[in-house]
Amino acid sequence: MDIAAYLAGTAREVEAFLDRVLPRGSRYPSPLAEAIRYSALDGGKRLRPSLALAAAGCLGADRVEAMPVAAALEMIHTYSLIHDDLPAMDDDTYRRGKLTSHKQFSEAVAILAGDALLTQAFQVLGEAEGIPLERRLRIIVEIAVACGPAGLIGGQMADLNAAGNEVDLPSLEYIHTHKTGAMIQASVRCGALAVGAGNRELKALTAYGRRIGLGFQIVDDILDIEGDPEETGKATGRDRRHLKATYPALFGLQSSRLRARELIEEAIEALADFGEEADLLRAMALFIEKRSH
Ligand code: IPE
Ligand code: IPE
Ligand code: MG
Ligand code: MG
Ligand code: MG
Repeated sequence: MDIAAYLAGTAREVEAFLDRVLPRGSRYPSPLAEAIRYSALDGGKRLRPSLALAAAGCLGADRVEAMPVAAALEMIHTYSLIHDDLPAMDDDTYRRGKLTSHKQFSEAVAILAGDALLTQAFQVLGEAEGIPLERRLRIIVEIAVACGPAGLIGGQMADLNAAGNEVDLPSLEYIHTHKTGAMIQASVRCGALAVGAGNRELKALTAYGRRIGLGFQIVDDILDIEGDPEETGKATGRDRRHLKATYPALFGLQSSRLRARELIEEAIEALADFGEEADLLRAMALFIEKRSH
């Protein structure tokens, strides 16, 4: 399984979709459309869309049906990065190999570009006519929960609260499973829901999604220490500087690597009832553990 080729192919498809739906040019007060496009196009692994499409494909469905879901997930993810990088949050200068939105434009523009992406993502979901209405509604609610106070936003709040304070494992797991895990789990589930997954399949995919979601953030913490900024497209050493609650800070690099591996193994085990149709999801799990970007 050539996972790099799969990710690159999905990135192209998602970018083509985003390019079509995102605001363009002079119809909008400047530089709104430009700022939205600056962050949403060109760059990023497109991991969440890739997971959504792989989950849809694993149920034997045509991936195209799940494309609006994949694109909406990436729009919400991109918004979360723009806001995460703001001076009031992680105060970062580089993202996806270029200046962060507030450095390229201004803080006000970055806030608005993020708001626009989040809002328009729900328009894209609502207008996804290829997905029967009841399923579509379920997906909209599920993604809203995953990026709202019970998910990503709750995790981001806890992440800020924890900085500089002593945290225990349950608090650290809360941060990671919420700020990052919730949207990754929702990506897998909603890709499958878009093509009519049944309860049994969803149960296995949920277990898989939860584990890769937590594993993904542990690896992100590790890459903040030993990653190559040329590859990750963002600076290293930022977590330590902000005294963030991370796996390596709490348990050290070696234990963090072991924990990530264990989670990836468990994620793959959760797919045991699937045959080779889930090979892409298995390969995605391994990619999440081994990635250098
Ligand atoms: C970075 O996510 C933020 C986290 C949730 C850790 P990604 O590593 O998926 O970022 P891109 O989309 O590839 O830039
Ligand atoms: C970001 O976590 C999670 C969200 C954006 C919701 P991090 O703050 O660790 O992500 P990076 O390292 O800036 O990409
Ligand atoms: Mg952060
Ligand atoms: Mg950050
Ligand atoms: Mg990080």
